[in-house]
Amino acid sequence: MQVLGLGLFRLIILVIAFLLVRIGEAETKSFLINCGTNSSVNVDGRRWVGDTAPGNNVTLSSEGIEAYTASFTGDSLYAPLYTTALIFTDSLNYTFEGTNGSYFLRLHFYPFSFENHNVNDSSFAVELNGLKLVSECNVPNEIAHKNSYLQSSGGNSSLSTLVKEFFFNVEGDAIVLEFVPAKESFGFVSAIEIIPVMNKLFVDSVHKVGGNGASSSLNVGKRVIQTMYRLNIGGPTIRPNQDSDLMRTWEMDSSYMVNADAGSEISNNANITFASPNDTSVAPLLVYRTARSMSNTEVMEKRFNMSWKFEVDPDFDYLIRLHFCELVFDMPNQRNFRIYIDNQTAADNFDVFVRAGGMNKAYHQDYFDVLSSNIKMLWIQLGPDTATGSAGTDALLNGLEIFKLSKNGNLAYVENYGNQGSSKRSRTSTIWVSIGAGIASTAVLAALVLLTAFYCKKRRNKQSDTKKNSPGWRPLFLHGAVVNSNANVRGSMGYQNQLGSVARTGRRFTLAEIKAATSNFDDGLVIGVGGFGKVYKGEIDDGTLAAIKRANPQSEQGLKEFETEIEMLSKLRHKHLVCMIGFCDEQSEMILVYEYMANGTLRSHLFGNDLPPLSWKQRIEVCIGAARGLHYLHTGAERGIIHRDVKTTNILLDENFIAKMADFGLSKTGPSLEHTHVSTAVKGSFGYLDPEYFRRQQLTEKSDVYSFGVVLFEVVCARAVINPSLPKDQINLAEWAMRWQRQRSLETILDPNLEGKYSPESLVRFAEIAEKCLADEGKSRPTMGEVLWHLEYVLQVQEAWLRLDAGDESFARSRVLRNLEEREAEEVHEDAGVDDEQDSLDAKTEDDSEATVRETNRAGGVVVGADEFSQLVSQQGR
Ligand SMILES: *[C@@H]1O[C@H](CO)[C@@H](O)[C@H](O)[C@H]1NC(C)=O
Ligand SMILES: *[C@@H]1O[C@H](CO)[C@@H](O)[C@H](O)[C@H]1NC(C)=O
Ligand SMILES: *[C@@H]1O[C@H](CO)[C@@H](O)[C@H](O)[C@H]1NC(C)=O
Ligand SMILES: *[C@@H]1O[C@H](CO)[C@@H](O)[C@H](O)[C@H]1NC(C)=O
Ligand SMILES: *[C@@H]1O[C@H](CO)[C@@H](O)[C@H](O)[C@H]1NC(C)=O
Ligand SMILES: *[C@@H]1O[C@H](CO)[C@@H](O)[C@H](O)[C@H]1NC(C)=O
Ligand SMILES: *[C@@H]1O[C@H](CO)[C@@H](O)[C@H](O)[C@H]1NC(C)=O
Ligand SMILES: *[C@@H]1O[C@H](CO)[C@@H](O)[C@H](O)[C@H]1NC(C)=O
Ligand SMILES: *[C@@H]1O[C@H](CO)[C@@H](O)[C@H](O)[C@H]1NC(C)=O
Ligand SMILES: *[C@@H]1O[C@H](CO)[C@@H](O)[C@H](O)[C@H]1NC(C)=O
Repeated sequence: MQVLGLGLFRLIILVIAFLLVRIGEAETKSFLINCGTNSSVNVDGRRWVGDTAPGNNVTLSSEGIEAYTASFTGDSLYAPLYTTALIFTDSLNYTFEGTNGSYFLRLHFYPFSFENHNVNDSSFAVELNGLKLVSECNVPNEIAHKNSYLQSSGGNSSLSTLVKEFFFNVEGDAIVLEFVPAKESFGFVSAIEIIPVMNKLFVDSVHKVGGNGASSSLNVGKRVIQTMYRLNIGGPTIRPNQDSDLMRTWEMDSSYMVNADAGSEISNNANITFASPNDTSVAPLLVYRTARSMSNTEVMEKRFNMSWKFEVDPDFDYLIRLHFCELVFDMPNQRNFRIYIDNQTAADNFDVFVRAGGMNKAYHQDYFDVLSSNIKMLWIQLGPDTATGSAGTDALLNGLEIFKLSKNGNLAYVENYGNQGSSKRSRTSTIWVSIGAGIASTAVLAALVLLTAFYCKKRRNKQSDTKKNSPGWRPLFLHGAVVNSNANVRGSMGYQNQLGSVARTGRRFTLAEIKAATSNFDDGLVIGVGGFGKVYKGEIDDGTLAAIKRANPQSEQGLKEFETEIEMLSKLRHKHLVCMIGFCDEQSEMILVYEYMANGTLRSHLFGNDLPPLSWKQRIEVCIGAARGLHYLHTGAERGIIHRDVKTTNILLDENFIAKMADFGLSKTGPSLEHTHVSTAVKGSFGYLDPEYFRRQQLTEKSDVYSFGVVLFEVVCARAVINPSLPKDQINLAEWAMRWQRQRSLETILDPNLEGKYSPESLVRFAEIAEKCLADEGKSRPTMGEVLWHLEYVLQVQEAWLRLDAGDESFARSRVLRNLEEREAEEVHEDAGVDDEQDSLDAKTEDDSEATVRETNRAGGVVVGADEFSQLVSQQGR
């Protein structure tokens, strides 16, 4: 017994020791490499091991040339690192084992010529686990360029070294840094610094510049991030040894200011603390001790912008991080300013005191910006917020970082580079976090497509404007998580464009107007609640009734749907589509204002309410209206639009019971001609979901047709499409109704309210259409045009029957017969419903093939097993 106890004790000790070792390993896994030498040096209080020194935990794939110089002319502290370099004339890998987590990587270069290697002729690329970090790098040129830039804006600095910094996540066990010289050329590296980052430096959800408070998901875990600029605003340079364990350098800002006089430096030696305990690694507190503000006594009227400008690579996405700390005022409302990034408003009424929660609180705010291809200079400006009318028109900034985000995994333009044909190598990478076996192949395929597209684009000499109008396979709307790095970007760009176009066609309401219209969001005015938020009945200024849909500001999903809906509705005008009057995006609100549909949802008139039942004729008319709306969606655009959420709660009725399709939050553009479907995660409402779409996750217009078939049965039977309280075989209306329809006895389960008030022939025809819509395979289902055509016939049959009933027998008979003959002779043609008010649809055609990857990946939360499928209830409106 004692022996056993001792054994167990030993085992526990062993396990603990093992765990400690593991933790120890993870925490100390930094690599400081002095390149081109076997000797190690101490610099900045850290030990840098020679890359050819034994036992240094680095593997080099080949030897390279050890170069050295006696004439280092830069910062003496680092001199020992910069007097040696490793020169390579062929691809060379540095492999660092046992790495897992987040890291900073810094590549240090001090250019000097060695033997017959003239450094002016060097040119090389760097890849990290197959992702391109740097391409065509000529170090002397880059240094000269940066110096001339800094000097041109009044700086006196003269750099002699180049440091490139990257942040990335590795999941796996090795970092492979590959240095690839250009053809007939060579490359070199002076030092390599790899530092683990323990605390979270980046959050995923970031405000978009020009997005009116909307956020964007960065997907930082899957991107490589390059530090472009890091400034200590209004203060001295902060050196690596002053920045705790991350060893960052914070440059002075004056050389980047557009007008150095616009602002004055302030500082405060008080005890500054982080506003959030999570931020301790975001920046050293030193950064917050100094700032630049406009409170320049020489400027009486503080009506100017403090502006900085930075050279950037166009066509990439940037994360701009601003560091703030109120050093002077101990009350709010003393400085309320606007922030402009890339000449767009990033924030207004910005009060650091309020945001940080007091004075001397270190606080930062991130913004996400998508740079279009003509922007080579990024402007960051802080200026007065004239709209607030507050006393404080001063502005303040303590620190600034600009990060470039990788696109499709790369930070450098991808081209055919180097004598190794590196771009042809497999791009499998440990950085791309596993994305699930099922879709891996799609991802690789999409990555290839993207790579090709990107490569071609470069070759086409950046004719990006024409490119944006070229047709391609592109679902319009972006929902949920992304696999590919720049997917969200498209969304945000689209969003800005949409707001532009809505501004032309719809009205931008102020929040005050919306509050007035809804009695400050009075719950008594709520006419609908859904996943998206609440819908209020409101009265806008001139007494016009409106339905005001206010999105839940928390939901990222909601934001996407908000964008989708604005984009959709701003382009679509049709008698049978709900009309959007305007929107409100003030203060992060996502509010849509629609025409008020007095009679609510179709569903509310079928069951579950005390409303008088609709007549059979009304029901047919409503179905025709909805079918017209859908038909217009499918065919009116150059590349049809798939509604994706056809159901009776999305068919609204106006005061005259005219049906209109609503809720385009899930809509997608259809496939282009050369494709037969759009791959996508299954979305929609249970009970209406196309089983084929469900099985294959391929969306076509026929999925809407299926859902519409369910609507038709719902209209006949007037019961919920999923009713879990019924016996098992009756839970799902589609299955239950089809069982009766196949026996040609649908009338058995007919809504009792219709009893005796319908033409049996019309019901037969109606049920046949519904049955066809529910065909198992999409290709066997009719088009909406055909459905519409048949429904119109059903209506005539019913109208004739009604007249017959009223005694006008001969008229009715002759009319129906005549029509029947005409119709049977007529070709079923697609244009049946595209009659009135058809605006041209400027179908978006940016190529966006990564959407495949993204959409399939999102399936996670949506796809349910077949059993759940028929039991889940989702009758709430969206
Ligand atoms: C380092 O390299 C020098 C010359 O390149 C050589 O003389 C010396 O023995 C090497 N030292 C070690 C520890 O390998
Ligand atoms: C190499 O790695 C081992 C284990 O992680 C560590 O103990 C050792 O200090 C490392 N050597 C150097 C030169 O960093
Ligand atoms: C460098 O490593 C990559 C894989 O990480 C490999 O494909 C490549 O061939 C290696 N290059 C050399 C020169 O060993
Ligand atoms: C490299 O170029 C610079 C500037 O063009 C020049 O001053 C320098 O002498 C060149 N170095 C060599 C080794 O050719
Ligand atoms: C640059 O100017 C600043 C003052 O503006 C001065 O403190 C610094 O020493 C100068 N640096 C050089 C390299 O001349
Ligand atoms: C890397 O670390 C993460 C989280 O600490 C862990 O889930 C993952 O399994 C690790 N991967 C490897 C290959 O060790
Ligand atoms: C600064 O404030 C922190 C927390 O308020 C406190 O723990 C620390 O002692 C203070 N330091 C000084 C120098 O006042
Ligand atoms: C700090 O981080 C944790 C975990 O990520 C999070 O739950 C918490 O809300 C954060 N705290 C603040 C003040 O942001
Ligand atoms: C500040 O900069 C923004 C963006 O470039 C510009 O729209 C605005 O007019 C400027 N304001 C002043 C006072 O110069
Ligand atoms: C941004 O604004 C500044 C002046 O406020 C102007 O000089 C610059 O050209 C603008 N940039 C773009 C891309 O419009």
